[in-house]
Amino acid sequence: MDQDDNQLQFDAQGNLRHLLSLQGIDRSLLTEILNDAESYLTEPGAPPARGTSLAGRTVGNLFFEPSTRTRASFDLAGRRLGADVLNLDVNTSSRKKGESILDTIYTLEAMHVDVMVVRDASDGVPAYIARNVKDHVSVLNAGESDVSHPTQGLLDVLTIRQHNPDFANMAVAIVGDIQHSRVATSASQALQTLGVGELRLISPPALAPDAERFPGARIVDNIAAGLKDADVVIALRIQRERIGNLDGVPGIDEYFSNFGVSTENMKHAKPNAIVMHPGPMNRGIEIEGALADGPRSVITQQVTNGVAVRMAVLKRIGKRMSGQ
Ligand code: NCD
Repeated sequence: MDQDDNQLQFDAQGNLRHLLSLQGIDRSLLTEILNDAESYLTEPGAPPARGTSLAGRTVGNLFFEPSTRTRASFDLAGRRLGADVLNLDVNTSSRKKGESILDTIYTLEAMHVDVMVVRDASDGVPAYIARNVKDHVSVLNAGESDVSHPTQGLLDVLTIRQHNPDFANMAVAIVGDIQHSRVATSASQALQTLGVGELRLISPPALAPDAERFPGARIVDNIAAGLKDADVVIALRIQRERIGNLDGVPGIDEYFSNFGVSTENMKHAKPNAIVMHPGPMNRGIEIEGALADGPRSVITQQVTNGVAVRMAVLKRIGKRMSGQ
């Protein structure tokens, strides 16, 4: 993201208006969002937290790529803050008939959609929409190609903070298809903003990222070395939909034994290390099913935190809209 896009996230008063990337979100703002999110967590079985910051507003979910968790999570977060939520059905939307994205956006604006939550397979779409909407409208990036997935990064660091708030003395290992992962990018940015001690990115060479995308991270192609004494292990799916040519990517069995987050491979990490995954999981490929369901896994906690983090972001956006 360039500097202009970075500036685009804030209004003239310096308030967060769009959330396009975690680049440019400083430590104090990030911490405020995480603290707000934490205030929305309730005990299991208790009714979920609610608020009124978006009362009278409309949130439009525009997911031009598949999604289960993120879309459901934004939907619930918007409703729990009092908004109407419009879930655009992408398969029947006019974009399939060739309508430009801007025509779709102008149509929704004309219906008083105030917050556009956007997921798209192309780079730059959230920022492009943000540049073209009316002054009162906010755009939230819900997954942009392999570039950025800011609310996922926020929920990941919230989950890690609940386990251990001492980021400076922590080693976090992200394992899998780093090259095509927007989750790896946003999680890394958030971790580095919070001063993580060590960040290791583990993948087969064919799925390794450009080092410049991850300044300060260690890129490793050996899981034993990468997981050694790690405190947090994040497993990622192979993003087949973003890979033109799978040559050089190991077959399933080889992948699972060399790069799978398994009970066996976790022996290299610290005994109390937690296991994370953004979903959707491919059990037996990038993660062992029993580990995902076991006591070290915080995967469902990530999902719970996802709603809370999206409520925290929407609350800020809603307050700005109401001039509070
Ligand atoms: C991720 C995504 O869509 O980027 N999932 C999610 O948002 N929870 C990860 C993935 O698809 O592998």
